[in-house]
Amino acid sequence: MTNKIRKAIFPVAGLGTRFLPATKCIPKEMLTVVDAPVLQHVVDEAREAGIEHFIFVTGRNKAVIEDYFDIAYELEDTLKKRGKTKELEALIEQLPEAGATSFTRQQAPLGLGHAIWCARDLIGDEPFAVLLPDMVTMGSGKQKTRCLSQCIHAYETHGGNVIAVEEVPVDETHKYGIVSVGADHGATFEITGMVEKPPQGTAPSNLIISGRYVLSPEIFDILGSIEKGAGGEIQLTDGMKALSDSQSFHGVRFDGTTYDCGSKLGFLSANVAFALANKEIATEFKRELKKLLQDA
Ligand code: G1P
Repeated sequence: MTNKIRKAIFPVAGLGTRFLPATKCIPKEMLTVVDAPVLQHVVDEAREAGIEHFIFVTGRNKAVIEDYFDIAYELEDTLKKRGKTKELEALIEQLPEAGATSFTRQQAPLGLGHAIWCARDLIGDEPFAVLLPDMVTMGSGKQKTRCLSQCIHAYETHGGNVIAVEEVPVDETHKYGIVSVGADHGATFEITGMVEKPPQGTAPSNLIISGRYVLSPEIFDILGSIEKGAGGEIQLTDGMKALSDSQSFHGVRFDGTTYDCGSKLGFLSANVAFALANKEIATEFKRELKKLLQDA
C-alpha cells in the first residue's frame, strides 16, 4: 500500500437547488468564479497538492463535467486557426493528463458518505483525499498554499486521517459537521469526537468540517454498512466517527480563507476575492467596486 496521497474524490452529484434557476440546465459546480468553473478552482487546488488522479462522483444531468475535462477538438482547432494562442494555452493547461480522470455515478441521492463509498473501487487500498467542490479555498501568508496542501502536510506529520476545519459563529454550527478538540498543537490538533449537524446549542465546538479530508481506505467498509444519519442520509461524518475508534484523526486549522460557493453569499464573495486577486482585472475592478459601494 502506498502512503502518498495520489488520488482525490470530488463528489459532484448534488442538485444545486439553492441556485435555481441558474442550475436548471448546468451543474452548480460549473458556475464560474471569475473566469473558471468552481470545480476548476477545486481541481487546481488538488493538483497543487500533488494529486495525480481525479475521481468525480457524478449523477444524472452532470455529463457536461466529463466533457469539460476532455479536449474540445473543434474549439481548439478554431482557436489555432485564429491565432488565439493565449486562450488555446489556457485550455491545454487546464486539461488533466490522459487517463488521469475517472467518473462514476451515484445513482440515488443517499448522502455524502454514500457518494464517497461509490468511489471505493477507483481508490483501492491506499489513502486518498476528498474535496467538496462547494468549498473554494484561497491561501494566505507567505506560502499561500491552499487547504489540501496544508492537510497533506499534516498527514505527512501525523499519519492517520486529517480533516480541515474552520471557525463559524456558534449559531451556524447546526448546518455543518462539527469536531471536538483534544490535544492542541496550534495549527493542528487531535480530534476526539465528531457530530453531523448537531441541533442548535449542542455542538461540542464551533469548528466545522470545512470540506477537505485525507482518509484511509478502511473508511469504505464502514461507509458500506453504517445506518442513515442526519437528514436521513449516509453521512461521511458518521463513518469517520466510527473509524476514529481504531485510527487517529487530526484537525487542520486552515491558514487562508474558504468560500462556501454552495451559498449565494459565499459564491459572490469568492467572485469578489478572486477578481481582486486577478492581476488582469484587479485595478479596474477595485474602482468599479468602490463606485458600487458608494452608490449602495
Ligand atoms: C457536508 C458535510 C459536513 C460539512 C459540510 C461542509 O455537509 O456533511 O460535515 O461540514 O459539507 O460544507 P452538506 O453541506 O453536504 O450538508
